[in-house]
Amino acid sequence: MATNITFHPGSVTQTERDELLGQKGATIWLTGLSASGKSTIATALEQHLLHKKLHAYRLDGDNIRFGLNKDLGFDQASRVENIRRIGEVSLLFSLSSTIAITAFISPYISDRELARSLHEKHSPAIPFIEVYVDAPIEVVEQRDPKGLYKKARAGEIKDFTGVSAPYEAPPNAEIHIRTDQVDVAGAVEIIVKYLVEKGLIP
Ligand code: PPS
Repeated sequence: MATNITFHPGSVTQTERDELLGQKGATIWLTGLSASGKSTIATALEQHLLHKKLHAYRLDGDNIRFGLNKDLGFDQASRVENIRRIGEVSLLFSLSSTIAITAFISPYISDRELARSLHEKHSPAIPFIEVYVDAPIEVVEQRDPKGLYKKARAGEIKDFTGVSAPYEAPPNAEIHIRTDQVDVAGAVEIIVKYLVEKGLIP
């Protein structure tokens, strides 16, 4: 970290901001293998929340790699940095009383825990809801919408998650969705029900 820097607090507290804007922020962190359904669920969830007049914004792995994270690849160090940045960005979105929906493979438990701790150590704590978007490797490999598993098996893509790079499943995610058993609407319903029960949305 740089030296000679000073943190400048705002003049509106988090509680006041949430009250003024009529909404609490939170981060909904989707994690899972490529083609597990993260982006599809994130897109449908964002649409659902926006139609309820709630501020929600989706941060998607592929999309973010066109801009903010275009300097990063898929080696372990790049993935760690990718998720570190998104942990920080999602916190900023949620501090603005927005529901941030992140859709990143985020394969390492320690990186997801870092993102969680950024939210939970914040004062006041910001809700961090980890959603395991789970489908067996055989299923996602069968789906293979972008043909990436095929390329990875042929050795044309190195460090491919689930094939030649690890995916560490979350042991304690707040929500676990089996996308080989639940459709997109069902997945959105599960997440929305959770948000309502926790008092995060009306
Ligand atoms: S990570 O692991 O969280 O840093 O990955 P993420 O930023 O979510 O990017 C995943 C998308 O990048 C494409 N892609 C790869 N994924 C995994 N491994 C390798 N080597 C790779 N190369 C490219 C792929 O389209 C992923 O998108 P999703 O939506 O997950 O299928």
